[in-house]
Amino acid sequence: MLTLLRHLTSLGHYGGRRSVATVISGNQTSKMLRERLKKEVDHLRTAKVVPGLLVLQVGNREDSNLYISSKLKAAAEVGIEASHVRLPNTVTQEELLRTIASVNEDPSVHGLIVQLPLDCIHRVDVEKITDAVSPLKDVDGLSCVNAGKLSRGELNNCFLPCTPNGCMELIRQTGVSVAGKHAVVIGRSKIVGAPMHDLLLWNHATVTTCHSKTSDIPRQVATADILVVGAGRAEMVRGDWLKEGCVVIDCGINYITDKSKPSGKRVVGDVHYASAYQRAGFITPVPGGVGPMTVAMLMQNTVLSARRVLADVSGASL
Ligand code: GUN
Repeated sequence: MLTLLRHLTSLGHYGGRRSVATVISGNQTSKMLRERLKKEVDHLRTAKVVPGLLVLQVGNREDSNLYISSKLKAAAEVGIEASHVRLPNTVTQEELLRTIASVNEDPSVHGLIVQLPLDCIHRVDVEKITDAVSPLKDVDGLSCVNAGKLSRGELNNCFLPCTPNGCMELIRQTGVSVAGKHAVVIGRSKIVGAPMHDLLLWNHATVTTCHSKTSDIPRQVATADILVVGAGRAEMVRGDWLKEGCVVIDCGINYITDKSKPSGKRVVGDVHYASAYQRAGFITPVPGGVGPMTVAMLMQNTVLSARRVLADVSGASL
């Protein structure tokens, strides 16, 4: 089910490259996934299990509000019962931990995520918060238990973090096999870069992870068959860094000034799209690439968690 658009250039048949990159649509791929999940949820509901997701937010960041509303919309679409709890930015770590503990105990909630970053006036240890979420409900895959299992390659025994899992699905859509390839990841955050490294590794790529102290990132990028960028820097990766024909997955969401837009700004990724498009074999757009996949994978993890509950009560295997 390849949902890719092929764009041919008018370059001649002799010598030069004939094609620019194929665009990997996260919008289309996530739509197919949501349709499949809706069927699964219908099935769960007939077995009297209603998948439940709770999104816990601290404060009122504008970007978080946007992300949360797209999660709630996707949940409604697939039939997941989603609720949004917003705590004031004056909440203390203890209060936050108590809230998480009570959601852990609530059998109607199969998935709990704490939206990051926390918008909080008090000092809160984010690790303590993500670790307080029950590993059985940690549909963000950010707890030490789930991250540890992923790092050991126990991919079928944990929740995979949503953005890297979405990236893997987009790579699958290209038909390019990961095994034996050289993959380069830019960024080592707990939410994108580090788990992306693990997922590629356990799908049998040879993986190089670049970060702020890597001495020559363009040199590493030039060797990548598969490149995943989660650097948080607008248009950092230039097309002329790339190995011709490589797969480029761009996790960046950055706003840059654009006076031609009514809002005065425009969203771009961590990859300079126009130049990378000329050189890559496959590329994800921003927006409409990784973003919608993150949301779809959150839905998938929530359904998986509800299925596990059903399997536990009925003794069925998944
Ligand atoms: N903030 C930005 N992306 C994410 C995500 O995938 N999960 C959570 N919890 N917070 C985020």
